[in-house]
Amino acid sequence: MTIAIRQLQKHFVGEVSGLDLRKPLTEAEAREVEAAMDKYAVLVFHDQDITDEQQMAFALNFGQREDARGGNITKANEYRLTSGLNDVSNLGKDGKPLPKDSRANLFNLGNCLWHSDSSFRPIPAKFSLLSARVVNPKGGNTEFADMRAAYDALDDETKAEIEDLVCEHSLMYSRGSLGFTEYTDEEKAMFKPVLQRLVRTHPVHRRKSLYLSSHAGKIVGMSMPEGRLMLRDLNEHATQPEFVYVHKWKLHDLVMWDNRQTMHRVRRYDQSQPRDMRRATVAGTEPTVQQQAAE
Ligand code: OGA
Ligand code: MN
Repeated sequence: MTIAIRQLQKHFVGEVSGLDLRKPLTEAEAREVEAAMDKYAVLVFHDQDITDEQQMAFALNFGQREDARGGNITKANEYRLTSGLNDVSNLGKDGKPLPKDSRANLFNLGNCLWHSDSSFRPIPAKFSLLSARVVNPKGGNTEFADMRAAYDALDDETKAEIEDLVCEHSLMYSRGSLGFTEYTDEEKAMFKPVLQRLVRTHPVHRRKSLYLSSHAGKIVGMSMPEGRLMLRDLNEHATQPEFVYVHKWKLHDLVMWDNRQTMHRVRRYDQSQPRDMRRATVAGTEPTVQQQAAE
């Protein structure tokens, strides 16, 4: 089969056909998908009824698996999935929707805020591959924003102003903005802020993107309110409808995105019904800044 890619109504999204993700890719196919990721930034695959192992094997064509530790409040012995995929569902270990007011559920609601995966890690994620195993009956679309186009559309003065700015990112900033503010000492140490550039350059095509995320809560060298207002303005700019693609999930869709040049968020859905989404995460290869936050 030959791979075909159709551009969706938003220029940064490609719909891929001609690949069966249950089977290993040839080297040529893997390079073709990676080149398409660089070009588009979001790829949609339909009708991929895959296992966790097949999903992980597909992801490993594009780099190493990201270590999921330190990205959640769920302890390893509470994990529902043991395959190495990130559990992005609303389900507990018993397979049932988490109680609405459970700490795990409240923490996971942070995915409804615009973000880039793992921007709270010193080396943030490269690609994410999300597979729909159970689609929720109400809501739960995932939206993607093209951060290259958002960057390009800034005026020259703003581009110059933000070129070398560095932000602090932490899960405590994103969750804190929803009023989730209680952490154990262990969690506080785990979620210690890291530094990320506000403008990053793609390693292959060298286009710049705005590197925003709800995890960003401070701009280095600015007061908290000043920095947050600037981030708010940039987020408002970057998530205007012209830069956004809305994905309405069908069972067994797999959507793959480049965290270096997009942001995403899930919209609210019916928490009393299951939504089983599983993510394979491809690790990034280097920090976006030279130095990490001082102790
Ligand atoms: C993710 C994420 C959104 C969703 O997998 O990183 O933010 O639609 N998921 O569940
Ligand atoms: Mn995410």
